[in-house]
Amino acid sequence: MLAKKSVEDVDVKNKCVLVRVDFNVPLADGVISDDTRIKAALPTIKYLIDNNAKTILVSHLGRPKGQVKAELKMDPVAKRLGELLNKEVLKIDVCVGDAAKKAVEDMQLGDVLLLENVRFYPEETKNDPEFAKKLAELADLFVNDAFGTAHRAHASTVGVAKYLPAVAGFLMKKEIEMLSKVLFDPVRPFVAILGGAKVSDKIGVINNLLDKVDCLIIGGGMANTFLKANGIKVANSLVEEDKLELAKELQEKAKEKGVKLLLPLDAVVAPSIKATGGIGEVPVDQVPGDCMILDIGTKTAELFAKEVKTAGTVVWNGPMGVFEKEAFAKGTEALARALADSKAISVVGGGDTAAAIKKLGVTDKITHVSTGGGASLEFLEGKELPGIAVLMDKE
Ligand code: 3PG
Repeated sequence: MLAKKSVEDVDVKNKCVLVRVDFNVPLADGVISDDTRIKAALPTIKYLIDNNAKTILVSHLGRPKGQVKAELKMDPVAKRLGELLNKEVLKIDVCVGDAAKKAVEDMQLGDVLLLENVRFYPEETKNDPEFAKKLAELADLFVNDAFGTAHRAHASTVGVAKYLPAVAGFLMKKEIEMLSKVLFDPVRPFVAILGGAKVSDKIGVINNLLDKVDCLIIGGGMANTFLKANGIKVANSLVEEDKLELAKELQEKAKEKGVKLLLPLDAVVAPSIKATGGIGEVPVDQVPGDCMILDIGTKTAELFAKEVKTAGTVVWNGPMGVFEKEAFAKGTEALARALADSKAISVVGGGDTAAAIKKLGVTDKITHVSTGGGASLEFLEGKELPGIAVLMDKE
């Protein structure tokens, strides 16, 4: 298990604390459509307020590529955070320099300040040491609570830790504990469900999980490549031709390891993603020549759900079909329901899968829904995330 010092292991009282948060939230016309990531950071922020620290928050929002973009300013986030905390959140238009220093000096103990979008500075993603030093100059201590950005070695996630004592926030701690629990100490049987469009995005995860799980379920677009590798004609379905050999090798590896590997038996098919007609359910070896697989079928959903029901631990990353479209969402929904009803320890990767779980309103029934998409995937690949590696180890 990873044992990193957390905000509770250091003295934060009356200190200036720089907290890297992941407030990279979806925005539509300046309105936040999902504030999950802001809510997830509240325990750390409240703890610092309660301990009379000056809390200086820094985050990225979108990918402005080192330029100031009016639509990616942090102001709507400051407003929402203020509402959630029921307290004024100070906001400035810069991250470093005299204006930032002055803003920190002017803060009262217990105040919260949100800096501007840190990716407005090209130095951020380059992990520029000078920029990291300037950020560090604002504070006495660095808390990383941005699990969703822990796979990025940037100035505000990694560089700054060279100049300040660095510890994990409560969200970061919980994410590390939950993901470590499933990877290193799972209650068996341990079932992994992987979906999403491409095998190429999940090669590392499959390889790492095959050493750990009892059962690997593969659904979503990526299953087509496995089906085709097994000689099944999947017609116009999305297939990664250059990954057919790999799909065979991974199935071989599963066999050698004694891992049960489940692929779809039937599928929802249609002439295209946009189709409103011509949608039907067929066994996977009977996909009509002008159709493509867009979701798992009823029999497959039942098979997968049965496995989830008897599991001790389930980890799930990637939808079973094109769930954004109602016609192709049933497979993902059935699995989400099965997971919500199961007694297993359930951990769901962020991004699309978290969105599907949220859409169904079953988030509360899942043991842990990660706030990290790419980060949780890299963690499950067994990689050491740079934003975690730089935090101080527990003695
Ligand atoms: C995410 O949303 O996955 C994180 O905030 C990281 O964002 P990025 O992929 O732009 O680095």
